[in-house]
Amino acid sequence: MLTIAVSKGRIYEEALPFLEQAGITPVDDPAKSRKLILQTTHAEVQLVIIRATDVPTFVEYGAADLGIAGKDVLLEHGADSLYEPLDLGIAGCRLMTAGRVGSSFPKGRLRVATKYVKTAQRYFADQGIQADIIKLYGSMELAPLVGLADCIVDLVDTGNTLKANGLEPRELIASITSRLVVNKAAMKMKHQAIQALIDQFEQTLAQRALS
Ligand code: ATP
Ligand code: PRP
Repeated sequence: MLTIAVSKGRIYEEALPFLEQAGITPVDDPAKSRKLILQTTHAEVQLVIIRATDVPTFVEYGAADLGIAGKDVLLEHGADSLYEPLDLGIAGCRLMTAGRVGSSFPKGRLRVATKYVKTAQRYFADQGIQADIIKLYGSMELAPLVGLADCIVDLVDTGNTLKANGLEPRELIASITSRLVVNKAAMKMKHQAIQALIDQFEQTLAQRALS
């Protein structure tokens, strides 16, 4: 049996049609069920439904053999401990810096609000900018409006959330899509089954590229 970790919410909405196309359909509807382990129409595959940020942890420790996670979450987790064989091309967005429209950054240290603490630290260090990172768990866009931070590091898709809050996108840190990740030990121990699944996903991606 192979276990795939998937998060509810945004990624699941796009991962579900992808998995279905690859022959993996959950028996219970995750939107209605409170079950956290879902059997699927594929006899050898089950899904575990977890928080997006927990997917790399489950896969790293082998609690799930595979997972579907946003590149943002993988960058923050430090994904050296996982294989990342496929870009599934779903849940696309951009990880960006953003600030108040027309504002300029201060001369001294920059205060940055984000939930991507390590990624932001790395990014500003690479730019040679001294930054104090303030960890938030959501509503990052509020921070510059109430004087908590000079700028934010957050995901941008349509840009509507920034616009609605008088902010503007600044620098691109990374283009984000969801990736298939695999536990390293499972890749060795269950090689045949996992490779078959990766091949199946690759075929599905190829079919999607044509349609
Ligand atoms: P958690 O449930 O752990 O708090 P979350 O609330 O960030 O996570 P989602 O909003 O479902 O969960 O986002 C999960 C993933 O979807 C993100 O890690 C990112 O890869 C992608 N994502 C987030 N926001 C967007 C967006 N606006 N457009 C496209 N993809 C996005
Ligand atoms: C994400 C992200 C931004 C918004 C960007 O939030 O944190 O706030 O989407 O999308 P947009 O550019 O299309 O407006 P989400 O809706 O997931 O809310 P959350 O961060 O509170 O989970």
